[in-house]
Amino acid sequence: VKDHEQKLAELKSKIKSYPDFPKKGILFWDIFSAIADGATCKLLQTLLLETIQVKYKDVEAIVGLESRGFLFSFSLAAALGVSSIPVRKKGKLPGEVVSYKYDLEYGSDVLEIQKDTIRPGQKCLIVDDLIATGGSITAAVNLLKACQADVIGCLAVIELESLNGRKNIPDGISVHSLIKHD
Ligand code: PRP
Ligand code: MG
Repeated sequence: VKDHEQKLAELKSKIKSYPDFPKKGILFWDIFSAIADGATCKLLQTLLLETIQVKYKDVEAIVGLESRGFLFSFSLAAALGVSSIPVRKKGKLPGEVVSYKYDLEYGSDVLEIQKDTIRPGQKCLIVDDLIATGGSITAAVNLLKACQADVIGCLAVIELESLNGRKNIPDGISVHSLIKHD
């Protein structure tokens, strides 16, 4: 049987990058072309579940970031039988929401979560496909903190280490990625 490290190496070999997409100078790591293959879907799900089992065993809610994070928040929550909760851009979620405004390079953005889906002290794991600057995950951490949730960690498939996104994420928050690239 393959061990965790062998499976990580296999996954890494399956996720391709596209230079100059969506803009010149950006190297786009594409999760969708990887999961177009059924065996890779299964491998990725297994690796994420193995990581949760080891590092985030007590998780009560998987919080996915719009939109690629939703792939993982539902599939992992369904496998574990815990809550699947979306964080979305402003104006997409009905009912009472909690909002968090954050600065971008140019301008600002607002993330929202449905107030009734989250309870104080709930052990939440944030999931997304990629950590670049860490801005999206940091905003989600701050939104969950505003809801008094207990953020037990952040889990991503890919981390772009040269962008140092990890250092932007608030102190004391556990960050784990399956695959690292420069
Ligand atoms: C991408 C990616 C992460 C985020 C990472 O999402 O899916 O969510 O950027 O960047 P950061 O660490 O600098 O915040 P994008 O905004 O392109 O939207 P999408 O998920 O809807 O494709
Ligand atoms: Mg995204």
